[in-house]
Amino acid sequence: MNVNLKGKNVLVTGASRGIGLRLVERFVEAEAAKVYAVCIDGEALEKLKESLPSVETLIVDLSKWEETRERLSSLDIVHCLVNCAGVVEYTETGQITEAQWDFHFDVNTKAILNVSQIICNKLIAAGEKGSVVNISSIASHRFTPNHLVYSASKAAVDNITCTMAVDYGRKGIRVNSINPTVVSTPMGAKMWSDPAKSGPLLERTPTGRFNTTDDIADLILFLLSERAAMLNGVVLPIDGGYSRC
Ligand SMILES: NC(=O)c1ccc[n+]([C@@H]2O[C@H](COP(=O)([O-])OP(=O)(O)OC[C@H]3O[C@@H](n4cnc5c(N)ncnc54)[C@H](O)[C@@H]3O)[C@@H](O)[C@H]2O)c1
Repeated sequence: MNVNLKGKNVLVTGASRGIGLRLVERFVEAEAAKVYAVCIDGEALEKLKESLPSVETLIVDLSKWEETRERLSSLDIVHCLVNCAGVVEYTETGQITEAQWDFHFDVNTKAILNVSQIICNKLIAAGEKGSVVNISSIASHRFTPNHLVYSASKAAVDNITCTMAVDYGRKGIRVNSINPTVVSTPMGAKMWSDPAKSGPLLERTPTGRFNTTDDIADLILFLLSERAAMLNGVVLPIDGGYSRC
């Protein structure tokens, strides 16, 4: 399926690597009018700009509410937003600190609300329609030892998605989440490269493999497109059937 984004401005957070980087490449291929690539890693964004000069890169620490508002408020209207930036750390339950809680919630959850409000309110004021995809995780509703804070931050993302779908849907903006299992990215490697940990998960995955970044990008392009015009408030596992086993 070819999705064409001609005439649409798109913005991706967490664009320096992994899923976000692949999305930027796919949005350029889909001929989006303007592609904004946002993340905290200035060096990686420089490299991205060298390989894809048409992309507008913005270094933003999304955990900072006001800084984010200052940096993103002056952009052109964005029709398609992908909230992709995320962080993950393991901690044994019983040893979790306030700083670890805030670290996850500031980036994985609060930033989604902040960025979405900036982008969506501007779009509504301009009388235009759009679509948002939040990258959640299967961890929002399938539970793994020592993942408490990450799981909780992603469960909140699903909740934000559904409420935003109700509120913004009436104003012409669809909001959906996707919930992947393991994806082949630096984060995926950090969390799942140990076969003793990933093996049982893979065994319970009917399709017998984890996600590539293109599996994720294909789904997001579909959700952003008009072909998905009646999908709003969906929390969609992309897990090869794992969550049904
Ligand atoms: N990789 C997986 O197995 C997997 C599985 C399920 C869900 N996810 C989710 O998919 C999303 C992307 O994951 P990925 O695997 O590409 O991760 P990654 O670690 O490869 O990339 C994360 C991106 O987020 C950016 N980022 C982190 N903190 C930031 C901050 N404070 N401000 C701005 N940018 C910041 C990083 O610079 C990077 O560009 C995340 O939300 C993650 O939770 C990943």
